[in-house]
Amino acid sequence: MQIFITGSNRGLGLGFVRHYLRQGHDVWACYRSDPGGLAAIESPKLHRLRWDVGTDDGPAGALPENVDLLINNAGIYGPDKDGQSLGKVTAQAMMEVFNIDCIGPLRVVQRLLGRFSGGAVIANISSKMGSSADNSSGGT
Ligand SMILES: NC(=O)c1ccc[n+]([C@@H]2O[C@H](COP(=O)([O-])OP(=O)(O)OC[C@H]3O[C@@H](n4cnc5c(N)ncnc54)[C@H](OP(=O)(O)O)[C@@H]3O)[C@@H](O)[C@H]2O)c1
Repeated sequence: MQIFITGSNRGLGLGFVRHYLRQGHDVWACYRSDPGGLAAIESPKLHRLRWDVGTDDGPAGALPENVDLLINNAGIYGPDKDGQSLGKVTAQAMMEVFNIDCIGPLRVVQRLLGRFSGGAVIANISSKMGSSADNSSGGT
């Protein structure tokens, strides 16, 4: 499979990259600015691609012909929990979160349109922070 993962220089994204490389897949691993943990991986199946999903600039490099699995993993938490309390959160902070976490995946899907294989899967990594059903862990 050809697998495309955003925000994969560290954290869960880097874990996904390692996992799918171990399984023998081709992985397009995107990073915002610092390749981080991707720099240490030596594999002909790894394709590093710089892409800040918070801008309209698009990826800096060649895209795969076909994508079988896109994992929209890049995301930010925003200000710390206290900074996201009702009394302190700012419009600017919320706009940054929405820009990266909500509009970012839209940018990525739009840019990859025409490259998805039949039966391709798009996985959007969300969070309890984005849940409208979970009212037990509030405060933000
Ligand atoms: N870990 C958890 O417990 C948890 C819980 C709920 C949801 N999630 C979600 O799971 C995903 C991964 O979480 P994580 O814990 O691995 O987070 P993380 O360690 O903070 O990593 C976030 C990744 O997203 C990248 N990123 C942030 N803004 C970006 C942008 N504008 N363009 C491109 N890449 C960007 C970061 O790149 P930089 O290094 O350049 O910042 C980093 O690679 C996120 O979407 C997060 O919301 C995680």
